[in-house]
Amino acid sequence: MSQLEVSPLRRPRRLRQSPAIRDLVREHDFSLNDLVHPIFIEEGIDEPKDVSAMPGIVRYPEAMVEAEIKELAALGVRYVMPFGISRHKDELGSDTWHDEGLLARMIRTIKQACPEMVVIPDICFCEYTSHGHCGVVEDGHVCNDATVENLVKQSVAAARAGADMLAPSAMMDGQVRAIREGLDAAGFEQVAILAHSAKFASAFYGPFRTAVDSELQGDRKGYQMDIANGRQALVECLLDEDEGADILMVKPGTPYLDVLANLRQRTDLPLASYQVGGEYAGIKYAAMAGALDEREVVFETLVGFKRAGADLIVSYYTKQVAEWLAGK
Ligand code: PBG
Ligand code: ZN
Repeated sequence: MSQLEVSPLRRPRRLRQSPAIRDLVREHDFSLNDLVHPIFIEEGIDEPKDVSAMPGIVRYPEAMVEAEIKELAALGVRYVMPFGISRHKDELGSDTWHDEGLLARMIRTIKQACPEMVVIPDICFCEYTSHGHCGVVEDGHVCNDATVENLVKQSVAAARAGADMLAPSAMMDGQVRAIREGLDAAGFEQVAILAHSAKFASAFYGPFRTAVDSELQGDRKGYQMDIANGRQALVECLLDEDEGADILMVKPGTPYLDVLANLRQRTDLPLASYQVGGEYAGIKYAAMAGALDEREVVFETLVGFKRAGADLIVSYYTKQVAEWLAGK
C-alpha cells in the first residue's frame, strides 16, 4: 500500500469542513438579479384561475395585473415575462400587433404599475392563433418568411407599448435579424433581444400548453429542434449571435444543460436557461407528495443552471424563491 493512500497529500474535504469555508470557495450562487418570472394574463375574466397542471401558478385577470406586479416588485422580483391568454384568436394571430391588443395592453399595464420592472414579453403567435401554431399556416405547413414578417410587426408593437427586451420564441429562421432591423428602423434600437435560440420540441411544454389553452393539434417538430441534436443547437445559437441577439437562450432547462455548457465555451454573450412548465410541475407534484424538499431541490436546480453557464434563468419558481429569500 502506498503512503498516499494512508495520508493523502490532497484533501479536498479541508474546504468543506465548515459553513464559512464552504461559502468562501463556493463557485456559483443565484439571486433575484438572475431570475425572470413568467406571468399569465387572461382576457375577459374577473377572478384569477388556477393552472391545474402547475399548482401555485394562476392566470390573472387584466384588472389584477397592477396589484400582482406591485407585489412582485415588493418581493424584489425585477424581471417579468408576460404571456397572454387570448379571446381574440385568428388565423394569423393579428391581435399581437395591434396597439389595443392583449400583448400591448399587458406591457403597458405592467410598465404603468411599476416603471422599473423589466418587461420581457414572449414574442410568438401560438397563444393568439386559432390553430395554435407559432405562425402562418399554409397547406399544413408553418411558412417561415411570412411568419417572420408578422413577428416584426408584433415586435414593433411590443416595443411601442414599452417592452424593455423581447423574447422571440417561434423558432423561425432569420427571425432575430428581421426583428433587430425592424426595431432599429422604428427607432427602438435600445430594445434588446433575448433569443429563444435553441428551443427544443419538448414534451416538458405540456403543462404550459394547458396553462395557455393552446389550440395546437399535432406538434411543432417542423420548427422547434429535435431533442437529440446538441450540435445543431450550437448552430442555431451562433446564427442568432450573428443575427444580432443580445442574449442566447436554451430551452427547456434541466434536460439540456449539456447544450448550455457547450454553448458557454463558444460565445461570450450572456446566456439564459428556461426552467419550463414541465420541470416546475415535476418538482411541485413530487414536493406535494412529500417525496422531496421543494426549496432545496429548486435551489439546486438554479445553482445547476448557473454552474452550466447561465447568466439568467426564466423560472415559474421566481416568485416562490423571492418569498423564500424574504423568509416567508
Ligand atoms: C410558445 C412558447 C412555449 C413556451 C414558451 N413560449 C411553448 C411551446 O412552444 O409550445 C413554453 C414554456 C413552458 O413550457 O413553460 N412559443
Ligand atoms: Zn409559439
